[in-house]
Amino acid sequence: MQIIRRVDRLRTAVSLLKQQGGQVALVPTMGALHAGHMQLVKEAKQRADHVVASIFVNPMQFGANEDLDAYPRQEDADAAMLSEAGVAILWAPDVDQVYPPGFATSVSVTGISDGLCGAARPGHFDGVATVVAKLFNQVQPDIALFGEKDYQQLAVIRAMARDLNFGLDIIGVPTVRDPDGLALSSRNAYLSAEQRAAAAMLPRAMQAGIAVIEAGGPVGEATRGIEQALLAAGFASVDYVTLADAVTLEPVENADRPGRLLVAARIGGTRLIDNMAVNAR
Ligand code: PAJ
Repeated sequence: MQIIRRVDRLRTAVSLLKQQGGQVALVPTMGALHAGHMQLVKEAKQRADHVVASIFVNPMQFGANEDLDAYPRQEDADAAMLSEAGVAILWAPDVDQVYPPGFATSVSVTGISDGLCGAARPGHFDGVATVVAKLFNQVQPDIALFGEKDYQQLAVIRAMARDLNFGLDIIGVPTVRDPDGLALSSRNAYLSAEQRAAAAMLPRAMQAGIAVIEAGGPVGEATRGIEQALLAAGFASVDYVTLADAVTLEPVENADRPGRLLVAARIGGTRLIDNMAVNAR
């Protein structure tokens, strides 16, 4: 596996791959890799001939009071995992290769970026859309893979790729979970043993709420039940519990179409998010 930090060298390396024939897949990450990220790589290997993974902790998507400096960085361990998994190129750009002096452009996908996590984290999805647009232009892959774990992010990127004619396929990969149901996340490392045990209530309460909704029960009652279960388990606060249209992410009042239940809640200082499919009745 080649580790590349400059755009000119990346361009040369990717065109050499393309000369060999076949499709190029991109798996964008911020590093601190776990089995969820590695599932994206596995899926990429199955769908394409050459896999490029990127690691870039993107300052533009962190808010002023968020954990940019504290974000875990472990490039050597990450590179070993990616190499072992058969990745051809690790694109780990220096900051000036993504944000050159004078950088003044922003990509904003309005509407779908505004609610849910966008409301709690103003500017976050502009930062995500901008860096992902740059990664697409730098690597020029045929497909790119993203986790359903970050469902709103996946929807924002799908909309951007469509609106700006990126001409690549966006593949969503189902969330990888621990045996007790908690979605894998680099933020789980911030939890104490006690908080980690309580965090398992998140997927459990969501499943219970979904059972109520799919049986035709009132959506408001189901979402309030989830919120109460989280607070009772020791969560400090609940940002949102929302049933949304699975495609537009507009909040909906009943399960008359394919839906998505999305939750963000804080345990100690750590913000956890999760989402699950809700079948139409
Ligand atoms: P990061 O949080 O490192 O996640 C990289 C990719 O891994 C994302 O597509 C995310 O949805 C996916 N992922 C994380 N946990 C997962 C899990 N448990 N199961 C399946 N997939 C999972 O998301 C980002 O980085 C950044 O916003 C990025 C897109 C790289 C732009 O900076």
